[in-house]
Amino acid sequence: MKKVNNIRQYYLIETMGCQMNERDSETVAGMLEELGYERAPAQAAQGCGGKAQALSAARLAADVIVVNTCSVRENADNKFFGTLGQIKKAKEADPCKIVAVCGCMMQQPHIVSDIQRRFPWVDIVFGTMNIEAFPSMLAGALNARKGRVADQVSPPWHSALVDIRTDAGEIAEGLPSRRARPFSAFVNITYGCNNFCTYCIVPLARGRERSRRPEAILCEVEALAADGVREITLLGQNVNSYRSPDSGGTGFPSLIRMLDAVPGIERIRFMTSHPKDLSDGLIDCYRTARRLCPSIHLPIQSGSADVLRRMNRGYSKEYYIALTEKLRAALPEIVITTDFIVGFPGETDADFEETMDVIERVRFDAAFTFLYSPREGTPAAEYEGRVPAVVAHARFDRMVSRLNAIAAEKNRAMLGRIYDVLIEGPSKTDESMLTGRTPGGKLVNIRPPARGSHELAGAIEPVRLVESGTFSFIGEFA
Ligand code: SAH
Ligand code: SF4
Ligand code: F3S
Repeated sequence: MKKVNNIRQYYLIETMGCQMNERDSETVAGMLEELGYERAPAQAAQGCGGKAQALSAARLAADVIVVNTCSVRENADNKFFGTLGQIKKAKEADPCKIVAVCGCMMQQPHIVSDIQRRFPWVDIVFGTMNIEAFPSMLAGALNARKGRVADQVSPPWHSALVDIRTDAGEIAEGLPSRRARPFSAFVNITYGCNNFCTYCIVPLARGRERSRRPEAILCEVEALAADGVREITLLGQNVNSYRSPDSGGTGFPSLIRMLDAVPGIERIRFMTSHPKDLSDGLIDCYRTARRLCPSIHLPIQSGSADVLRRMNRGYSKEYYIALTEKLRAALPEIVITTDFIVGFPGETDADFEETMDVIERVRFDAAFTFLYSPREGTPAAEYEGRVPAVVAHARFDRMVSRLNAIAAEKNRAMLGRIYDVLIEGPSKTDESMLTGRTPGGKLVNIRPPARGSHELAGAIEPVRLVESGTFSFIGEFA
């Protein structure tokens, strides 16, 4: 499909989920660009109304809008339905606009029927296991639209094309991709998850775990390096269980060693790492793999043995603490971050104190804290002992304030030191500054840019940390 009469065709992708979701959006963007679409201009309204106005301008300008959804917590679902309500206005202004919805929410049949009932003007619905179907679905929707215009059928037109798979089949390789940043890239290594933590929708939304072949990953990373990428983030729900599909094949530590040797790649990150599968081989990589960044996101969820057992996490607080000690013995400056769920069904005050204890003992650099959200179809949604909202909120606040205080203390201890910072571009909060990350992943706003900001995006520069906060630093070029 080519541009019609050289008229520019625009697309907008709204991504609501995690890095895996973002990576899928990059694939959808790559497909649309191969078809001749360009990213919708969003700058028009910036400055006079901020982000929200820029987004509605982009929605109006776009010929194709894709919403890539997340289902991990209930507020993600609500946000999606709110977004569709807003997109409706853009669709009413231009009924020829194609609206597609995809991602984790679409793997739940009740959501798809909800969309068909409440938002019948949505044109395309596809899932997480058949992204490659999108271009032909788009062609189908465009043809249907052409037919209706030719037959002088007036809008609204109601007939979504729906294609959801529940059996993932072979991994589709070689799909196009449009990266968000030229120097940094996400690389999928596994899809899906076999862990079935009792609270989690992901195994239902993404299917069983599949690992990509190491040759396919290496080939992608080499191509990325040749294209100017310096930093890769390997993606999987549990990267530690990566295993080449060939019998007796490569595991995660060997994969890291293989990618460590790719010329041009300066930083290797990964997420997420499940504590029960973190091997000594991976810990050893922190000593030996030169490009592996000194950071690990290692979700613990809770400190209570009983809660962890009912979550089906497969480790204890002591086991987790021992892992962090081993990691710090291998690499003392390693940045350790985590996730917590507060208010899991049946969580008692004593359980919560176990979580507070682990916070004191591990001293995390940063943590994401989530209120437990029941997800339909998961075992925990049926568990008894719902924690009252006021209790859960009080625990949440106490925890966040302690986590933040520790994070601020840890950051203060880094003041005065010089780190190699990978510059990402102008700071989102203050355009006069540049923003970048230390090898451990800490955010630094750099003032004043000694040189032009645009040329520096993608450069790795020594920066001295001169002010510290809870979530970021101010730095100066050293
Ligand atoms: N695969 C990753 C996690 C992906 S989901 C891992 O196992 O580490 C990201 C985070 O969302 C989880 O670590 C958990 O803290 C949180 N989460 C998942 N399901 C949730 C739920 N039902 N309610 C609240 N938080 C949840
Ligand atoms: Fe969800 Fe657990 Fe799998 Fe992570 S490991 S995606 S929390 S089931
Ligand atoms: Fe990610 Fe949300 Fe799906 S966290 S895997 S986009 S449910």
